[in-house]
Amino acid sequence: MGDLNGEFDDSIRERLFCQVCTDDVKKPCKITVVGAGMVGMACSISILLKGIATDMILMDVIDDKLKGELLDLNHGKLFLSNVHIDGGRDYSKTADSKIVIVTAGARQEVGESRLSLVQRNVNIFKHIIPQVAKYSPDTILIVVSNPVDLMTYVAWKLSGFPRHRVIGSGTNLDSARFRHIIADRLAVSPASVHGWIVGEHGDSSVPLWSGVSVSGRTLASLDPKIGKNDGPKGWDKIHSQVVQGAYEVIKLKGYTNWAIGLSCAEIVESILKNKHRVQPVSCFVKGQAGIEKDVCLSLPCVLNASGVGSIVQVDLKEDELEALKKSAALINEVQEGLKW
Ligand SMILES: NC(=O)c1ccc[n+]([C@@H]2O[C@H](COP(=O)([O-])OP(=O)(O)OC[C@H]3O[C@@H](n4cnc5c(N)ncnc54)[C@H](O)[C@@H]3O)[C@@H](O)[C@H]2O)c1
Ligand SMILES: *[C@@H]1O[C@H](CO)[C@@H](O)[C@H](O)[C@H]1NC(C)=O
Repeated sequence: MGDLNGEFDDSIRERLFCQVCTDDVKKPCKITVVGAGMVGMACSISILLKGIATDMILMDVIDDKLKGELLDLNHGKLFLSNVHIDGGRDYSKTADSKIVIVTAGARQEVGESRLSLVQRNVNIFKHIIPQVAKYSPDTILIVVSNPVDLMTYVAWKLSGFPRHRVIGSGTNLDSARFRHIIADRLAVSPASVHGWIVGEHGDSSVPLWSGVSVSGRTLASLDPKIGKNDGPKGWDKIHSQVVQGAYEVIKLKGYTNWAIGLSCAEIVESILKNKHRVQPVSCFVKGQAGIEKDVCLSLPCVLNASGVGSIVQVDLKEDELEALKKSAALINEVQEGLKW
């Protein structure tokens, strides 16, 4: 695919400008997005609007669609901070990316679970991840393709990277849905409701009701049964609303993209700006929070320029710990059946 920014007209340029500087351009912040579908494009625009990338590279296997997306974004460059936008099939274009986000692959059909996508997406990752690792051996991988926890594990294995550089978007999105629903009930901003969903991104995710708080005041201190079946009315439905949220959006519009794109851009920002911000993301967690299985799943992680700097030692109630172990066992069971 031609470099959309490279069509210089030297004859006019030489008459218009007197060149002062001849240094090579430095490319300090290249972000690659693999998969230019609904999710990949929502991630791309969310990152572009934050103005944190100097280079945005999109990779896809459908040439025309990719070319169209690249042209469309380039037409919008006047409204963005200075960024070079390009892409194609050839992974040499992705060389030296700071972050590579992988959104390529099959998505859920109406009513289909995330776990059922797995083998199709493993086959796609076998093609993508070695290429990414070859051209950007120091990059931080962010996996979005579903089932995201399994795909994070697969990407970790295929890349050979240390575990702190392979991150799944995980329950950062589930937690956002959780905080949105609680915030609506309390009429405050979701930013002022603290609440964490950990475990699998999806059906077996675990809401940590014991820690849900507004300005440090836990809702459990107001009613210890909050979120439980025999607890205050309506609150017991919130976790299933979170889990059903994606199915509902898919039923209504065919796919989900805006919230995952925004959530992903927040993860990217934490890394690029070395924020040490704590977010629930997926990484290899064996040995943490009572998990003995070989799995990736989400726990609160400190994100900095190295990737996952550390994992918060969460204080789980008995039922939360049981649910988390179940979630790990479920992921592990599907993982064991994978054909590599
Ligand atoms: N983790 C999350 O929270 C979350 C949320 C929403 C969607 N997803 C997942 O993200 C993935 C993408 O969803 P979508 O709606 O964008 O699907 P989509 O069909 O719109 O886009 C997928 C893109 O991947 C491309 N692709 C396929 N094989 C490729 C390869 N080998 N190299 C490069 N590109 C390739 C396709 O051409 C397509 O453009 C799905 O697995 C979906 O389940 C995850
Ligand atoms: C990220 O955090 C880890 C753990 O605290 C630390 O070892 C690492 O140096 C940090 N990285 C950066 C770039 O600050």
